Amino acid sequence: MKAITHLEMRGIVKRFPGVLANDRVDLEIRPGEVQALLGENGAGKSTLMKILYGMQQPDAGEIRINGETVRIDSPAEAIQRGIGMVHQHFMLVPSLTVAENVAIGLKASRPPILNLNQVISRIEELSARFGLKVDPRAAVWQLSVGEQQRVEIIKALYREASVLILDEPTAVLTPQEVEELFKTLRRLCASGYALVFISHKLNEVLNISQRITVLRDGRVVGTLPTTEANREGLVKLMVGREMSLKVTPEPVTIGAPRLILKEVSALGDRKLPALREVSFEVRAGEILGVAGVSGNGQRELAEVIAGMRPLTAGTISLDGSDISRASIAGRIEGGLSYIPEERMRDGAIKSFTVAENVILQTHAEAPISKRGVLNFRAIHERAGELIRAFKVKTPHDGTPLRSLSGGNIQKLILARELSRTPKALIAAQPTRGVDIGATLYIHHRLLDQRAMGTAILLISEDLDEMLALSDRIAVIYEGRIVRILPRAEATPEKLGLLMTGGS
Ligand SMILES: Nc1ncnc2c1ncn2[C@@H]1O[C@H](COP(=O)(O)OP(=O)(O)OP(=O)(O)O)[C@@H](O)[C@H]1O
Ligand SMILES: [Mg+2]
Repeated sequence: MKAITHLEMRGIVKRFPGVLANDRVDLEIRPGEVQALLGENGAGKSTLMKILYGMQQPDAGEIRINGETVRIDSPAEAIQRGIGMVHQHFMLVPSLTVAENVAIGLKASRPPILNLNQVISRIEELSARFGLKVDPRAAVWQLSVGEQQRVEIIKALYREASVLILDEPTAVLTPQEVEELFKTLRRLCASGYALVFISHKLNEVLNISQRITVLRDGRVVGTLPTTEANREGLVKLMVGREMSLKVTPEPVTIGAPRLILKEVSALGDRKLPALREVSFEVRAGEILGVAGVSGNGQRELAEVIAGMRPLTAGTISLDGSDISRASIAGRIEGGLSYIPEERMRDGAIKSFTVAENVILQTHAEAPISKRGVLNFRAIHERAGELIRAFKVKTPHDGTPLRSLSGGNIQKLILARELSRTPKALIAAQPTRGVDIGATLYIHHRLLDQRAMGTAILLISEDLDEMLALSDRIAVIYEGRIVRILPRAEATPEKLGLLMTGGS
């Protein structure tokens, strides 16, 4: 470990065209502590950490390590100095093994070839010491997202980082994996590592950190020991006013079934059965939650309904018409809306502008286009409405999507899908990666759509969200719906038991 006993960022300023991303930010990072960074989407958290990791250069300010002012021009330089970072989007080479990925970029100890067996035994050591379960000989493409994250952590530890930055590590993890990650983080702290932890989930931050720094519009609005923090106070710091995070669904009249699945089966990516005879109906004005441990068929379920995956048996009908064999476009026209879990991959084009992404599916409809001619005024108006409603942080609607912060890209796609009033909506992990204000807004929008008679299938790993919004909850286990409970009968304990195959 390259001992960093004290690390300080002082007066950091970073400007992008039209945005002051960091405004005279001070941050201290200490060994043996988890320093959390909180703030709304676009507050400047990732930018600050990219500066520390040498991916971006500040316009002003300085970084001090052990009292000495340093320049960090590149990630290689950051690693050299003992700073490691795990990004939300991993940077591993899928075709190589874990050990090969860890070894990439290392100088050979005995030229000309690096001894891969040495790498393997060192990985095994780190893995045992910090509870990072991973097989060094496995190919990366075979690994789950959680395993890939562990490889990224091991890679940083292998390079003897003593400061480890984790940018929204839990956004891609299941609740069980979050628990395991936290065990690892606690062990790292006990061994003297310094950690920076970014998350939008207040309970995670309160649970794992020792100190919390809150950013708003690029500025530090508060730093406090976690023992003195509570949810209400943090929300107030983040958004600048008090805000209740609770939503309560109003009673609505439940109508006729709009989305009906009858004994639907489908295969997964590896051509093994992923859905087995799934049957349920979602009625107009109803939210049916699907709860399950990730990997039990939720993704395949959303995809067969959306038309992205063929079914091998059974039928799906939407408002009385059989859509089992309909195309994706046919289903959208028929009144189906889909918020995909992998929004960056399935829902947006990053090189397009904000406005272009807003009209991705509706570019052929009035008023966006008339007789085949795009109406730019209507497009600007449309984009403007969504940007305001969802508080998407962007200089203007001609900005390429890729220069928005991660959460703001998510918000824009959600805004687009939630601004329609479809007959049925599939919402997969709708609040993943977005800040608390946007989460609340999304919850309200889902309830508005429910009140207007949309049949909503809510797939979520967030049990609090599930219990707050759903009228009924279906538990999925190994591709089967094992039970459907009315909300009044669903408790976290009962759901937890059913989700793990108990009865
Ligand atoms: N490469 C870039 N080019 C232009 N603007 C950028 C760039 N990177 C970030 N920004 C802008 O800087 C601001 C801060 O972005 P940053 O990614 O640091 O936010 P964040 O706090 O990490 O948000 P999130 O919670 O959504 O990840 C945003 O307004 C974003 O649009
Ligand atoms: Mg970010």
